[in-house]
Amino acid sequence: MLDISFAALDLPEEGVLVLPLAEGAELTGPVAALDKALKGGLKRALEAAEFTGKKGQQANLLAPGKYKKILFIGTGKAESPGKPEELGGTIVASLAKETAVAVLTASPEQAAKLAFGARLRAYRFDTYRTTLKPDEKPKLAKLRLLTPEPNAAEKAYKTLAAIARGVEFTRDLVTEPANILYPAEFADRAEGLKKLGLKVEVFGQKELEKLGFGTLLSVSQGSAREPRMVVLQWFGAAHEDEGKKSAKKLKDPIAFIGKGVTFDTGGISIKPAAGMEDMKWDMAGAGAVVGAMAALAGRKAKVDAVGLIGLVENMPSSTATRPGDVVKSYSGQTVEILNTDAEGRLVLADVLYYAQQRFEPKYMVDLATLTGAIITGLGHEYAGLFSNNDELAAQLTAAGASVDELLWRMPLVPLGESYDKEINSPIADVKNIGSRAGGSITAAQFLQRFVNGKPWAHLDIAGMAWASKDSAVTPKGATAFGVRLLDAFARGFEA
Ligand code: BES
Ligand code: MN
Ligand code: ZN
Repeated sequence: MLDISFAALDLPEEGVLVLPLAEGAELTGPVAALDKALKGGLKRALEAAEFTGKKGQQANLLAPGKYKKILFIGTGKAESPGKPEELGGTIVASLAKETAVAVLTASPEQAAKLAFGARLRAYRFDTYRTTLKPDEKPKLAKLRLLTPEPNAAEKAYKTLAAIARGVEFTRDLVTEPANILYPAEFADRAEGLKKLGLKVEVFGQKELEKLGFGTLLSVSQGSAREPRMVVLQWFGAAHEDEGKKSAKKLKDPIAFIGKGVTFDTGGISIKPAAGMEDMKWDMAGAGAVVGAMAALAGRKAKVDAVGLIGLVENMPSSTATRPGDVVKSYSGQTVEILNTDAEGRLVLADVLYYAQQRFEPKYMVDLATLTGAIITGLGHEYAGLFSNNDELAAQLTAAGASVDELLWRMPLVPLGESYDKEINSPIADVKNIGSRAGGSITAAQFLQRFVNGKPWAHLDIAGMAWASKDSAVTPKGATAFGVRLLDAFARGFEA
């Protein structure tokens, strides 16, 4: 893993040095001194490279003085600079073949954010690569940020590092293959978060049967792997009754609920073979929820929060649910299952109802790789946001925008009757699919029947959980979409 450190502003005199420079900016301070020592060599090189400082532009100087390399990176217009996180990501990607790099930064905040972006971009998952070729091995091992007030940078980074650990935890879960990460294994790993101070409860098959989680169990009944529900509580707000027994009860928490289908074959309504391997990441919603809870605990957020995840494997077998079966949900409503591939909503229905019954949360937010239709609608730029509460929708959208995890609200009004009619069943209270039209909306509509009128939002992250190409702070693969968003959202409730 990338070894990140912060040091005072003195420029090193050898190795690889990165110098971010804004558009039209003069060389100042230690860089001006270095230019002088190199007899104007930096300025000449910048001119020769036609470097203007445009965001992302690079000028690479080989072997000036005793250095191996000096890399100038443009940060754009001074009044609208690029994000330091993205700069950090770019540096990691551009200098992947170097072993140690020092970067000059302008402020402790910039240094910390740059380090955060670098760390996120440097993520790798090599668990099962027993024979990495030399050029496949990670090289960049040490990143040193040169900054005024390195102690302040260190402190700011401590908070960001907790979020990065959450992101990494989620990416690991999402990347793991389904033969390794099945419901019980996922629950075990979530239980490991106790060490951060989270209270973690795990519910097994028997407990879920006793509770009457009929829709969740209808999904897992075809699999040899037992289901789980995991509840993670973070007591971060100040409680007036501190120390008393009642203090052990969350007060108006925010609740995060995640779809954790560790593999989705479709069940009896089986999916086509091509691309089915993607369904190992059908637990990315649950992954984001546990990563976000880890981030909150890791940075000791001053907020009460609870994460609840439903973990199942959706398999076809002689014990699997048949299309047409009717089951009873934890809420008491009966559900006609017309398509066993619309399973995520069946899992969430019971967990959502349980969340609002037990915790009376101020807000509930669920995350799920719920529908292929959301990819048709929004592609891989925005996750779909569905909500019965305008204020909650606005807060989530703003939190997402602040960390580049974008949400698009669908439809533009609170969910309404006409969509809801689509999922009435002639034989039960509700059916688990509508017509093909508006597939993501009828899915959300189904969930809404299990939130008991409480303030709730649903994020359909099917298009966002896995990236087919690298981007600034996210290498291709599992993105951990939602971890940073939920962390930023929680910040809005901190004292
Ligand atoms: N997990 C899938 C949705 C999905 C598709 C996620 C592609 C990521 C990429 C979900 O369980 C599913 O199968 N949904 C069906 C619903 C349909 C049967 C109403 C779908 O989208 O086709
Ligand atoms: Mn499915
Ligand atoms: Zn699914």
